[in-house]
Amino acid sequence: MENLSIAIGCDHGGFELKQKVMEHLKSRNIEFKDFGTFSKDSCDYPIYARAVAEAVADGCYKRGIIICGTGIGVSIVANKVKGIRASLCSDTFSARLTRMHNDSNILCMGERVVGAGLALDIVDAWLDAEFEGGRHQRRIDMIEG
Ligand code: RB5
Repeated sequence: MENLSIAIGCDHGGFELKQKVMEHLKSRNIEFKDFGTFSKDSCDYPIYARAVAEAVADGCYKRGIIICGTGIGVSIVANKVKGIRASLCSDTFSARLTRMHNDSNILCMGERVVGAGLALDIVDAWLDAEFEGGRHQRRIDMIEG
């Protein structure tokens, strides 16, 4: 597996799951930086989603993980940042395939959608799958023109 460094973020709706994902990354010796939010107080998800997406787009971090209540808001925000291919996943098949085919560089999840056990399996499937390149690279090149 490539040497990964992960930018991670959430809003209040994803705070608990982000804590579990960070523990999981630690247990796998994967480096990460937490871009907030840092409490369960109500906040605005675009702030944290954009911070993670820009850190990945700038090349400071290889990949990002962003969590909110549904995963939808953060994925909408992240996909507006040039160079970001953010994938909202609630199953391991999609998490694996979005790495293999879309070279996904941000994983989004919804804490109110997936349980913690499944979420950590999704993280592992997404972290461990490799981009296949070839015809998939051609298609990715067509996304931003
Ligand atoms: C916050 O209540 C919730 O709207 C947010 O976490 C997210 O689900 C938005 O898409």
